[in-house]
Amino acid sequence: MMGPSGSWILWTLCVCLTPRQNVALRVNMRDSSLEVVQGDSVVLPCSFFTSSPLSRLNIVWTLAPVSSPDSPMQVIVYDHGQVIEEPSLIGRVSFAGIPWSADVILNDTRVSDAGVYHCMVNNPPETSDTSVGELQLSVTAPPSLPVCEWFGDVSVGGSVSLSCSVSEGVPTPELHWDHLEEEEVSLPVHMEDDLSGSVQIFNVSAQTSGLYRCSASNLLGSQSCYVNLSVYSASQSSSGVLEAVTLTLSMVLLMLALVLLLRWLHRTGHDGKGKEEEEEEERYNEIQYTPTVVKRSFV
Ligand SMILES: *[C@@H]1O[C@H](CO)[C@@H](O)[C@H](O)[C@H]1NC(C)=O
Ligand SMILES: *[C@@H]1O[C@H](CO)[C@@H](O)[C@H](O)[C@H]1NC(C)=O
Ligand SMILES: *[C@@H]1O[C@H](CO)[C@@H](O)[C@H](O)[C@H]1NC(C)=O
Repeated sequence: MMGPSGSWILWTLCVCLTPRQNVALRVNMRDSSLEVVQGDSVVLPCSFFTSSPLSRLNIVWTLAPVSSPDSPMQVIVYDHGQVIEEPSLIGRVSFAGIPWSADVILNDTRVSDAGVYHCMVNNPPETSDTSVGELQLSVTAPPSLPVCEWFGDVSVGGSVSLSCSVSEGVPTPELHWDHLEEEEVSLPVHMEDDLSGSVQIFNVSAQTSGLYRCSASNLLGSQSCYVNLSVYSASQSSSGVLEAVTLTLSMVLLMLALVLLLRWLHRTGHDGKGKEEEEEEERYNEIQYTPTVVKRSFV
């Protein structure tokens, strides 16, 4: 049977051990947020303090990706001396100082690596409610090459739409359209969504022709694509004016010639007719005053 002294010893053990257990395991994230450029390596820091042997140490890193924050995935696990990587991350993720630290190195980072990481450390029999650390990782990326397209009618008076879309880039690239003539003219861009922007050109004219550039840029860089518009009927406008003048001139000359010809024809035609009429008149007169006729009338 346990006497009063036995109870006291048990009580002392409990009092002395319980607080020690509570403070024993502590996780410390040296940063709460990190930023890395896509392709670079990053160390996700997670250190812990424990006073127990590390034989039953268990570490789990999880990621709640930016793209799907509600479905966290395991990144890497350390359990009973074994390391298990998430299959899709094999070759890119490793522990940096296991078992003394839970730091993780992530190589060849990708935009999909961005999100909230949790570092969970267990070292039985120690327990703690401070054994989870949290870290936000941002992965920035330069814009990818945008795609330029144009739609519409490139004849004078028509409407043309220039569209530009970029598939990658963090932060979201800004899109700009410029008309590259002697001087660059910036055009108002209508954003269809975050990653595509278009420009509307109404009433196409000769000035519409030329090279257009769409640039996608963020703080890491800029990429451009181009559209070369040729307004066909209007591209000949300078020579077209000349042609029109020449055409008008030649038509005027032709008309003049026609008028002259008609007038000449009319005159010659009138002269011929006049001679015939005179001849007819002569004949008429002849008949009228032919003695036979006169005679006959007397018959
Ligand atoms: C990550 O890169 C570092 C430095 O190049 C290298 O020591 C480490 O082994 C790489 N980790 C993996 C998982 O490839
Ligand atoms: C189209 O452009 C021409 C030449 O610049 C102009 O005379 C005409 O008024 C314009 N039409 C419209 C509908 O804006
Ligand atoms: C744009 O197209 C026109 C006509 O096809 C051509 O003469 C000109 O060289 C082109 N410009 C560029 C920059 O490709």
